[in-house]
Amino acid sequence: MWQPTPDVVAHRGASAHRAEHTRGAYELALEQGADALECDIRVSRDGHLVCVHDRRIDRTSSSRGVVSELTLAGMSDVDFDSWHRELPDTADELVRRTRPVPERGVLTLDELLALVHDHPRQVQLFVETKHPVRYGGLVEHKLVALLARYGLAEPSDPENSPVVMMSFSQAAVRRFRAAAPLVPTVLLFDRFRDSWRNGVLPPWADIAGPGIRLLREDPGFVDRAAALGRDTYCWTVDEPADVDLCRRSGVRYLATNSPGSTRSHLADS
Ligand code: G3P
Ligand code: CA
Repeated sequence: MWQPTPDVVAHRGASAHRAEHTRGAYELALEQGADALECDIRVSRDGHLVCVHDRRIDRTSSSRGVVSELTLAGMSDVDFDSWHRELPDTADELVRRTRPVPERGVLTLDELLALVHDHPRQVQLFVETKHPVRYGGLVEHKLVALLARYGLAEPSDPENSPVVMMSFSQAAVRRFRAAAPLVPTVLLFDRFRDSWRNGVLPPWADIAGPGIRLLREDPGFVDRAAALGRDTYCWTVDEPADVDLCRRSGVRYLATNSPGSTRSHLADS
């Protein structure tokens, strides 16, 4: 039976093979044919949106500190690339990893938008806002302003918007929706509320964003959400059995750390 193939979203870039959120990770994801890229954003002390997952830069860089207490210049001098020491599993990958890395400093959202904008293929960008409580509103406000600079804050075809906003925070998604009503939103969650389990999502959330654990327990969720007009974005899907589960249940977007092998698996099965 034919089933639609989910779009492959490169989670933090091709982050199984290159350090997450680096230009190298995103370039590799594009080379591997990812349909879309995912990134997390935080705001620096001097007001720049940077692509960093954690509150601190300790895990993913050669330095230490809290993103919101560091300046962009400070984070640009730090090495965000070399900490990722996973051994390459193929000769081809070895070549990739030994070629010069153009930049090791922190990647800004501005730079990532430019990379996507200049790419010859149409690629979507899923932007997840972090730290919504302490900096409530600031990240979403800056995101909308940056999207406006790229002409992306009011997409003419929202169904195919180049950018999609995401958050675990309902307040953040609601705020963003109020400021940029045409840009699609994903409400991320790792546990069901009763109404969500039935596919009933708030009106300001266009796409349902459950973790893969929830779909393993309840794959029928995707159909229930679809019946009420919601596509599903599922994260983070690296095991072949989970990729198959997503396809079988009708997931529209699948976020993975290995876009190359996930695409191959979808093509071969
Ligand atoms: O793509 C959504 C997923 O990234 C959410 O979890 O912790 O990796 O940001 P996290
Ligand atoms: Ca994320």
